[in-house]
Amino acid sequence: MKVEFLSSQVSAEADLYVVGVYQGSSEGPFEGELSTIDERLSNAITSLLKSEEITGKANEVTLLHTFGKLAAKKVLVLGLGELDKYDEQAVRKSAATIVKTARKEKLAKVASPIFKGANDQVSYGFAKAFAEGIHLANYEFEGYNSKREESTCLDAFYITGLDSDEASRGLDAGHAYAEGTNLARQLVNTPGNLLTPTDFANQALEVAKRHGFESEILDVEDMKRFGMGGLLAVASGSQQPPKMIVLKYQGKSEWTDVLGLVGKGITFDTGGISIKPAADMDLMKTDMGGGAAVLGAMETIGRLKPAVNVVAVIPATENMSGGAAYKPGDVITTMSGKTIEVLNTDAEGRIVLADGVFYAKHLGANRIIDLATLTGAVVIALGDVTTGAMTNNDEFLSEFLACAGTTGEKVWQLPTFDEYKEQIKSSVADVANIGGRGAGSITAGLFIGTFVEDTPWIHLDIAGTAYLKKETDLGPKGATGVMVRTLVEFTTQQAE
Ligand code: BES
Ligand code: ZN
Ligand code: ZN
Repeated sequence: MKVEFLSSQVSAEADLYVVGVYQGSSEGPFEGELSTIDERLSNAITSLLKSEEITGKANEVTLLHTFGKLAAKKVLVLGLGELDKYDEQAVRKSAATIVKTARKEKLAKVASPIFKGANDQVSYGFAKAFAEGIHLANYEFEGYNSKREESTCLDAFYITGLDSDEASRGLDAGHAYAEGTNLARQLVNTPGNLLTPTDFANQALEVAKRHGFESEILDVEDMKRFGMGGLLAVASGSQQPPKMIVLKYQGKSEWTDVLGLVGKGITFDTGGISIKPAADMDLMKTDMGGGAAVLGAMETIGRLKPAVNVVAVIPATENMSGGAAYKPGDVITTMSGKTIEVLNTDAEGRIVLADGVFYAKHLGANRIIDLATLTGAVVIALGDVTTGAMTNNDEFLSEFLACAGTTGEKVWQLPTFDEYKEQIKSSVADVANIGGRGAGSITAGLFIGTFVEDTPWIHLDIAGTAYLKKETDLGPKGATGVMVRTLVEFTTQQAE
């Protein structure tokens, strides 16, 4: 989608014009060229406002035909809600509603004002949210049908009312945030046979090449040298070679103060010998959602180049059953030297992350955020609305939660009381990989924490939020790219 700036909507060769109306302000202010458009349509908009058929309620959609009276085929009168409540979340949603409406109507070129709410000028944050909304809502997963349906993606978005450099910087940032998110979505939507650990590594290498990152892809021999017994054990049932994917972004002169982003990269999770039920097992192609979020964040970081150091680590493998597969009862030794008693081979994410977080520390990370589609239990606790979070450092998490407040991605903290650690004690090894039925997400997180030790750490369980069977405010059904925007928001704030 090309994005261009125009001084006037009605001069745009577009299929859809947009006018924004706040709730309870039928006399204005209006966002867009209401009076010109209204006049050409014989005052249709003002009459509908007067009769209260248009109320301005948030995301109210009223479509008017122009019958050749304007260059555009239709006009969208978009409800923006109350003026003084119009914030960045609202802008993002409005922008997405415009794109979704245009796509439904098969109108490929849109001209819209950029919204400023109660501000005099379009702020950086509003412009960023606007760009996020349009680019996130324009995402499409093409699929693999031999006869492809025609794409409904927009060709062009003409923006009017752009009044400052700050706002155009915001638009660029929002575009970068959305592109990283859309990359994560694309990876998660891709089936397991088409995104093997090797393919995932190649995708990471492309991101590295595009932005000049240092990269390193460890193969089985390297893993053996480092003693990464966790990743190797999980990979042992698979015909696909595992990869430990590493990207380094150095935004500071020295490689100190390094943020480690570690993402679970299980490209398909059968459960292994502790095999999963057949129903919905196909969805386990999404089990690399944490790794995808990390790579998506790196894509955005590469575009924005903040003055921070980041190391991205993605332990990538399939979790399969078979003659060579690891088994319940096995005891394995991780890179850290700590041993794990495997009681369930389906609790594999935490095992690969044990080596992932330890390797991130080895590469200099002194703060770590791990992301994983880790537990079914988090879906029971928080549904598909909220990402579960844990930490060993409340200050670190509260900074992160503030960023989630800005991006609108919902995150909720789970407790880490010592009592829970009792559940993952093993009689034959340092730690067991499952902790019984109760508090399944917490024991899973604490398991990873065992390998992080004292390094400030945040764990994000995105099992409920990474992939949705229904359309969302900001995108189609399927992969959401959740946490990419919050990770980047956090990372760029560290630079300030
Ligand atoms: N990949 C799954 C978790 C998952 C479940 C992700 C639903 C997305 C949606 C993970 O590897 C797993 O199987 N976890 C087990 C752990 C159990 C064996 C302790 C689970 O949650 O059932
Ligand atoms: Zn599993
Ligand atoms: Zn898994």
